[in-house]
Amino acid sequence: EVPSIQERYQDSFTIGAAVEPYQLEGTQGEILKHHYNSIVAENVMKPINIHPEEKRYDFEEADKVVQFARENNMEVRFHNLVWHSQVPEWFFLDKQGNKMVDETDPKQREKNKQLLLKRLEKHIKTIVKRYRDDVDSWDVVNEVIDEYASNERGLRESPWYQITGTDYIKTAFETTRKYAGEDAKLYINDYNTEVEPKRTYLYNLVVDLLEQGVPIDGVGHQSHIQLGWPSLQEMEDSINMFADLGLDNQITELDVSIYGWPPAPAYPTYDAIPDSIFLTQAQRYDDLFALYERLEDKISNVTFWGIADDHTWLDDRAEEYNDGIGKDAPFVFDPEYNVKPAYWSIMD
Ligand code: G3I
Repeated sequence: EVPSIQERYQDSFTIGAAVEPYQLEGTQGEILKHHYNSIVAENVMKPINIHPEEKRYDFEEADKVVQFARENNMEVRFHNLVWHSQVPEWFFLDKQGNKMVDETDPKQREKNKQLLLKRLEKHIKTIVKRYRDDVDSWDVVNEVIDEYASNERGLRESPWYQITGTDYIKTAFETTRKYAGEDAKLYINDYNTEVEPKRTYLYNLVVDLLEQGVPIDGVGHQSHIQLGWPSLQEMEDSINMFADLGLDNQITELDVSIYGWPPAPAYPTYDAIPDSIFLTQAQRYDDLFALYERLEDKISNVTFWGIADDHTWLDDRAEEYNDGIGKDAPFVFDPEYNVKPAYWSIMD
């Protein structure tokens, strides 16, 4: 058995992996227990999975992840309480079943807003009360910034925003704090947090929320990155900016795609990927973990968005842009769960 990643970094930060419940068994389960001391659900805790209908919660799959964490003494990140994607439609329908976003009457719009905020409070209260003793870090809101939005603050114009403005963000953090308690760590999570103008949009929103007394503890940097993008300097600057506000940082969804954007042309199979790419990737991982380690006072957790190269959302991306055939390889374990060059570079 190769040395454990979480032991290697035990003095710096916890090491996590995103999982689907089926991955908790067999070889993958063993890898999880050995190398990671933190876990997050890749999908099963998202609103559409856990709260598909107003009066129906489905905790079965989420419970499996929490149970595994308990048995193996792992930290849990909860992903996520609020998102614009994978959220069921019912949240945004008024009592007559009409879409709240289409309402034009100001009085009715105000009523809709209050109804949506009430639903949000109930959603958060129910979930947080169930898991508060198990969860260490909460992704309270996910991806609320959209650098392509037409408003000047870069706020994502999701139904949440169209119906409540930024009040949903405030309500989400306040409700989570209320039920999770003072020890819980509450995060605003997003991708491309290193890159301008998104970084500044996020920064300005966080400053504004903190000034209003909204209980935010940290920023989750998803870190879906590539071999040469973004730069290490951009990553370091982003972490420092938020640390200077007194906030924690977590690397929440790390994967290092072997492609640029778009991921085309892509290699059709794993075996077709040349060794030279894995060496470049190893260097990238070396640089990344050296950076994280240097900033260890400002980073409390580093989570990979998967375990091994047999299962990654990036394959869907590669397929989408290459007529259905394409393979990515973003992690430090190969599809057979053997270590890759990148594993040795982060262990050095
Ligand atoms: O479970 C259903 C299955 O029943 C159905 O037959 C199948 C048909 O498409 O879909 C399955 O659901 C898929 C789900 O993953 C579980 O595999 C969804 O279609 C698919 O869209 C979903 O993708 C997930 C994606 O979020 C959703 O937007 C990815 O696995 C997950 O890795 C990805 O994770 C996100 C983070 O939450 C937020 N940051 C970005 C990151 C990558 O996109």
